[in-house]
Amino acid sequence: MKLCMIGTGYVGLVSGVCFSDLGNQVICVDKDIKKINKLKNGIIPIYEPGLEELVKKNTKNKRLSFSNDLKNSVKKSDIIFICVGTPTKKRGSSADLSQIYGVAKDLSKSINKFKIIITKSTVPVTTGDEIEKILSKKNLSKKFSVVSNPEFLREGEAIRDFIFPDRVIVGSNDKRSNKILKNLYSPLIAKGAKYVHTSRRAAELIKYASNAFLATKITFINEIANLCEKININIDDISIGMGLDQRIGSRFLRAGPAYGGSCFPKDTKAITSTGDKFHTNLSVIKSVIRSNENRSKLLLNRVYKILNNKIRNKTISFLGVTFKANTDDMRDSSSLVMIPDLSKRGAIIKYYDPTGYKKEFEKLSNVSFADSLIKCLDKTDLVIIHTEWNDFKSLDFKKLNKNKKIIIFDMRNLYSPQKMTKKNIKYLSVGRGSK
Ligand code: UDX
Repeated sequence: MKLCMIGTGYVGLVSGVCFSDLGNQVICVDKDIKKINKLKNGIIPIYEPGLEELVKKNTKNKRLSFSNDLKNSVKKSDIIFICVGTPTKKRGSSADLSQIYGVAKDLSKSINKFKIIITKSTVPVTTGDEIEKILSKKNLSKKFSVVSNPEFLREGEAIRDFIFPDRVIVGSNDKRSNKILKNLYSPLIAKGAKYVHTSRRAAELIKYASNAFLATKITFINEIANLCEKININIDDISIGMGLDQRIGSRFLRAGPAYGGSCFPKDTKAITSTGDKFHTNLSVIKSVIRSNENRSKLLLNRVYKILNNKIRNKTISFLGVTFKANTDDMRDSSSLVMIPDLSKRGAIIKYYDPTGYKKEFEKLSNVSFADSLIKCLDKTDLVIIHTEWNDFKSLDFKKLNKNKKIIIFDMRNLYSPQKMTKKNIKYLSVGRGSK
């Protein structure tokens, strides 16, 4: 099939490349000409393991191309995916849909024959209705069908999540588009993916409700971890004991710092905003948002306590600053709260991250990027393991740091407290008692 992906961010680029790898003809469109030129030269603007190889392979076999000419790309395609950003508005919690509606207006000038217009971006319930209104203004005599097909891609695992999805959700109000989409996804269905057809609004809500639930699950275990610290219980035992219940499931039950990323923070806010818009108070999700926003402060208080409230001139080494492993994404990473706070209190901070230097900290005078683990850990007073990169999972801290009194605050519970004690290392983690 002939597809056009509008927007070449995590969603549009990964989905477009994977669709081309399944044998479809795909044009990825973006208004950012610099980004398009980089992509044409095989330079990938995002860090996503495995993506570069797929782009090269499918560009070479001419199934994948890049353009900043939306009109012509749309004319050449039968199925149009809208994959532009829907960030949280600067003021309030609702999603900013200006990019979505801008594309809808562009599309209304580009439809030359029947098209299926798909929102793959995460869009609030009833957005599809609004897009339909915009397109209908151009009396296109139903030369289109607007469909919701949300993605469930995790950064760092996006290709795997595309090829092996738990489910494909297609929300449409007509049989024709449903049939075409089922055909498009048939290679994934053949591999075991469940195909679920719903109304368009239901598909829009499934995406938000799924992310809000996952954020709730994480926040739940983080709060149980807080309790474990007071009564000297190991949260890992709770996660295992709970996770074996098929109704709960073991995934997304790992305690850690506040959740971050480009989705959970914005999607939890947006769904509560949708609730308020339709006079329904989504109080559980609102409390999840508050709890998560408080979490970085709560972990900072533990850092102050570890350093006996003597922060000034103490050297603190952050291992990892991205919001999670296998991504270079810093959006809503808890390090963006913790590092500036400690810097303001006079700490000298070094950070090492496998994805390199971060411009987010450039204005902080006493914060520097260490380009190796050894440099990051050398002569430090406190090591904070912030992101669960594989690079940090079996370090010989004694060898890496000559300072006999090294203290480690492991916010991802990568190590065993017992083993650390045996090595005579002062080791603290999350939800494993206060020792
Ligand atoms: C999420 C959803 O998983 C994905 O389905 C959706 O399409 C986009 O948003 P992503 O934001 O890339 O994906 O990352 P994810 O792996 O879900 O992690 C989100 C946050 O939760 C990270 O900060 C991560 O560290 C945290 N997390 C995740 C935990 O703290 N504990 C866990 O057990 C899992």
